[in-house]
Amino acid sequence: MSKLKTVKIKEIKEETPTIKSFYFDRVIKARPGQFIMLWVPGVDEFPLALSRTHRKCSITVKAVGKGTETLHSMDVGDRLGIRGPYGNGYDLGRGDALVVMGGYGGASLLPAVEALNRDGCKVRVALGASCSDELLFVDEMSKISRLEQCTDDGSAGRHCVVTELAADMLDGVDRVLTCGPEKMMKKVVDMCVERGLPVQASLERYMKCGMGLCDSCTIDGLQVCRDGPVFKGVELATMEEFGRFERDPTGRRVSI
Ligand SMILES: Cc1cc2nc3c(=O)[nH]c(=O)nc-3n(C[C@H](O)[C@H](O)[C@H](O)COP(=O)(O)OP(=O)(O)OC[C@H]3O[C@@H](n4cnc5c(N)ncnc54)[C@H](O)[C@@H]3O)c2cc1C
Ligand code: FES
Repeated sequence: MSKLKTVKIKEIKEETPTIKSFYFDRVIKARPGQFIMLWVPGVDEFPLALSRTHRKCSITVKAVGKGTETLHSMDVGDRLGIRGPYGNGYDLGRGDALVVMGGYGGASLLPAVEALNRDGCKVRVALGASCSDELLFVDEMSKISRLEQCTDDGSAGRHCVVTELAADMLDGVDRVLTCGPEKMMKKVVDMCVERGLPVQASLERYMKCGMGLCDSCTIDGLQVCRDGPVFKGVELATMEEFGRFERDPTGRRVSI
């Protein structure tokens, strides 16, 4: 079992009304797309992508329940436990990329876009959110990519869902990376597979150990924590559960 390290919160940034970034006082060496298991003392341990991995280290978290809400109430100087990094991360390769992100999916994709930009690849980003306030990493992404935005309520960018925006940005790209709600990623993957375009999607499943021991994160016989969280289009196209079913904490299969 990977050793639990203690980190201190060095800085907190409010990214949107529901999403905050927490910077740690130490850098954790990780590949873009890898995740950690975060222990919030006295509450719970849960998986989170590393949202910044180059020189600084952060997580970017949406408050959705007890663990994430407790984290949102914490202050600079408070201590957290982390295990990892775990998982494979994105295969960054070469060539121009389209990055499609919705919700807090940008947390896993920001380090990938930064690394592609450092490697001299041209990156287009399709960024979607429910409304203008919830668009994540607009400033950072617009400095390192050609960013286009959309919102469900039309309050910023195009008035459409992000898959519609992405469909209009596919021409001329060599590959696609996506992270966000699974139904959204399923549409992106289907679009790419139809066109024969290489695509990678970062999946979420309920995780207990984060390192291949408990099988709580299973999808079609693979473990999201160890075989993923990033899967390629060729693998995703054969998965019956992708975009349709996930497992609850007891292991029962439930519809997404
Ligand atoms: C690989 C991976 C990377 C993730 N990266 C991020 C990220 O960068 N930012 C972010 O905001 N969220 C991320 N998540 C989701 C995050 O783990 C959940 O939002 C968090 O666990 C919720 O915990 P809670 O106690 O606040 O909510 P709860 O009330 O306990 O649960 C709310 C919902 O969160 C999900 N969840 C709860 N516990 C777990 C768990 N142990 N494993 C997986 N899902 C769980 C379930 O869908 C549940 O219905 C990631 C999940 C995975 C699997
Ligand atoms: S979380 Fe335990 S095997 Fe993946």
